[in-house]
Formats: sequence, structure tokens, C-alpha cells
Amino acid sequence: MNPADAQQDAFGVYVHWPFCLSKCPYCDFNSHVRHHAVDEVRFARAFAREIETTAARTPGRTVTSIFLGGGTPSLMQPQTVGAILDSIGKYWNVASDVEVSLEANPTSVEATRFRGYREAGVNRVSLGVQALDDASLKSLGRLHTAREALDAVAIARSAFDRYSFDLIYARPDQTPQMWIDELKLAISEAAEHLSLYQLTIEEGTPFFGLHAAGKLKTPDEGLARTLYDVTQEVCAQQGLPFYEISNHARPGAECKHNLVYWRGQEYAGIGPGAHGRLDIDGVRHAIATEKRPEAWVMRVEDNGHGVTSDELLNSEERADEYLLMGLRLAEGIDPARYQMLSGRALDEKRIAILREEGAIVVEQNGRLRVTQEGFPVLDAVVADLAA
Ligand SMILES: C[S@@+](CC[C@H](N)C(=O)[O-])C[C@H]1O[C@@H](n2cnc3c(N)ncnc32)[C@H](O)[C@@H]1O
Ligand code: SF4
Repeated sequence: MNPADAQQDAFGVYVHWPFCLSKCPYCDFNSHVRHHAVDEVRFARAFAREIETTAARTPGRTVTSIFLGGGTPSLMQPQTVGAILDSIGKYWNVASDVEVSLEANPTSVEATRFRGYREAGVNRVSLGVQALDDASLKSLGRLHTAREALDAVAIARSAFDRYSFDLIYARPDQTPQMWIDELKLAISEAAEHLSLYQLTIEEGTPFFGLHAAGKLKTPDEGLARTLYDVTQEVCAQQGLPFYEISNHARPGAECKHNLVYWRGQEYAGIGPGAHGRLDIDGVRHAIATEKRPEAWVMRVEDNGHGVTSDELLNSEERADEYLLMGLRLAEGIDPARYQMLSGRALDEKRIAILREEGAIVVEQNGRLRVTQEGFPVLDAVVADLAA
């Protein structure tokens, strides 16, 4: 997609479903396991109220993308998904070509709901496949086998024109050749989009404790770099180049919703622990809601929303966020937009040094982007430019 064509008035709605059947040992997302049935009707009512309140703060917007993420949204009944989408359509205008994605776990039970989701208005699913061999899936604490995941991918393919799946790489004991073979199999199953994440050891997770105790060995820096490089090479060769550091798509098949985040556009966050970025009276608000699901419902029932923090971003914070998110993209950032947001230009001397080091390039159209050599040290590049 040509960034010049990017709609500046894109508006995304993220809806968080915070429940999972079990907690994966690597995951630090806001996800909770309940040993009783979740009251979906009560949650749907709370989603509707928070949508109404948020829409009243953002009049005149047209929703261009919706993302139902989690947790495990594919545990929701299709009627619940339908009710959430109806509420969004009731309180906001919705573009006729709106992208509606739903994150699904690839178990056979969840795949039986795919047609119901399509009828409810979902037009894209993103499946958390994570690995294509059973030993890895077991060590990641997943509840599905590779066969089951591929069967779910086939059902997604028959139910939706657009689908994607996630894999985690740089797993313990993974060699570059094993990853290349797995990736090629994944690409043969993926129509247009793949998300490929390097395993991150998140503080507070069981993997963190195991890693600290030396019981979980992850690739060293050199091997991680090789795994990253082969990911880029294989995907590019097979027609799925990266468009964001962890996301690959056929040209034109990028996830519109995720581009909203990375391009620094506006989005509403609905549900427990959801984040939003809204422009109200010309000022950007960074909004977050109560993370605990039942506490969020009660807040919404009392106040019409579950917001626990609503901070105004100053021009510097806003510009830094634009750099941090935008430099993850293959299309990079527009230095003129950075200047407009921050009130100052990027430092020419720093740009010159980073260019000499081969970490960034400045395109003829003026856009600045990170190179393949720069991506493995992206945090340092961003820190340098933002200083
Ligand atoms: C919000 S999660 C959930 C989707 C869904 N519940 C599932 O697990 O299939 C989105 C994706 O983040 C990735 N992810 C989560 N934790 C990770 C970690 N510690 N390291 C790398 N990727 C991770 C996984 O690929 C996962 O599919
Ligand atoms: S990875 Fe997915 S299924 Fe596992 S705990 Fe996290 S959100 Fe839930």
C-alpha cells in the first residue's frame, strides 16, 4: 500500500475479549481463565454502553476497521459478536468496506463458529497457530495440535476471503533449517498475511521464571538474528514481504486495523484493559480501561465506561509515539509529519550518522525508513532519533 494513499481519517475500534480456556506460559496479555460460564449477555450489554459513551466523545467519525482481540474472542458465541458489531453500527458511522477482524484459537470447537462469525459481520480471522509441530505446541502450553490448527486454517479459508495466522519463532532448540521448513509450510497455507513473532520472555510469566533458572534456553543474539534474517528472506521470496517488523502480507493485503496503530491514527479501545488514542478538541488522549473483567463490567454499569486513565499527550509525546510506531513499518515515517507534531525537525546530524551506519535510509520522496540491518536494533534507532 502506498502511504500517500493512506486515509488520514482512518478510525479503528478495538474490542477486547479477556477470557481464555487456559493461560499460555509465555503470554502477558490481559487474559483470564474462569472456571464457570462467562455471562456473555451481561458483557455484551456493557460493551454496548461503553461503545455508546465512547462514540459520544468522537462524533462524526467513520469506522474503517474493527478488531476483536484477546484473550480468545473465538470463545464468544456468534450472537455476542453480532451484538457488539450492531452496537458499533448503531453509535458510529461504519465505512461500507470496513475490515472486521477476529482473533481465533485454532481448535476444532472454535472453528465450528467461523460461519456464525461471518454471518455476524466478521470478514477476516487471525488464527493463533504459533507452531506447526506438536512438540513445540506442547512446550508452548497450547491446547491444539498442528493437524488441528491446519484444519482450522482450512475452515477459515472456506469461510472467509481474508485470513491470517500467527507463528512464534526463536523457540527453544529451533534451528534455522527447522524454521525455514516450518515457514515454507506456513506460507503454503497462508493466502495473504502472516504474523511472525520472535518469542519474547515477558516478566511475570512462567517462562520468565524458567528462563531465569536456566531451564528454558532461547537463541542467543547471533542465532536470533539469523532466524530474523531467514524470516525476511523466505517471506520476501515467496511473495509475502514484511510491511511491519513482525507482519507480512501480499501487497494490498495488509491488516488495515493494525496499520491504524502504526501510522499514529485514531482508535477507540473498548472492553477490559483496552487502550485507545482519540483526538478530542484537537488534543490527543491516551486512554486505558480497567483490566479486571468483572471490575470493568461494574464500572461500565455504574459510569457508562470503564476508563481508569485518560492522559493528554503533549506534542513531544505524540511525536515520539509517531516515531516509535511508524519506524516499525516498511514504509517508515514522514519527517514533515514528525515536525508538524513535535514543533521541531529531526536532528540532521543524527540522521546522517544513522544513514552512514546503514541503519536507516531517506527515500527520494523524503520518507525515512529503517533498513534490514537497522531492524534488529530498532529500539536504539528510535531512541537516537527521538533524543
Ligand atoms: C493476543 S495474542 C492472542 C491470540 C489468541 N488468543 C491465541 O493465543 O491464539 C496474539 C499473538 O501474540 C503472540 N504472542 C503472545 N505472547 C507472545 C510472546 N511472549 N512472544 C511472542 N509472541 C507472543 C502470539 O503469536 C499470539 O497469537
Ligand atoms: S496466547 Fe492467546 S490463548 Fe494463550 S493466554 Fe495469551 S491470549 Fe490466551
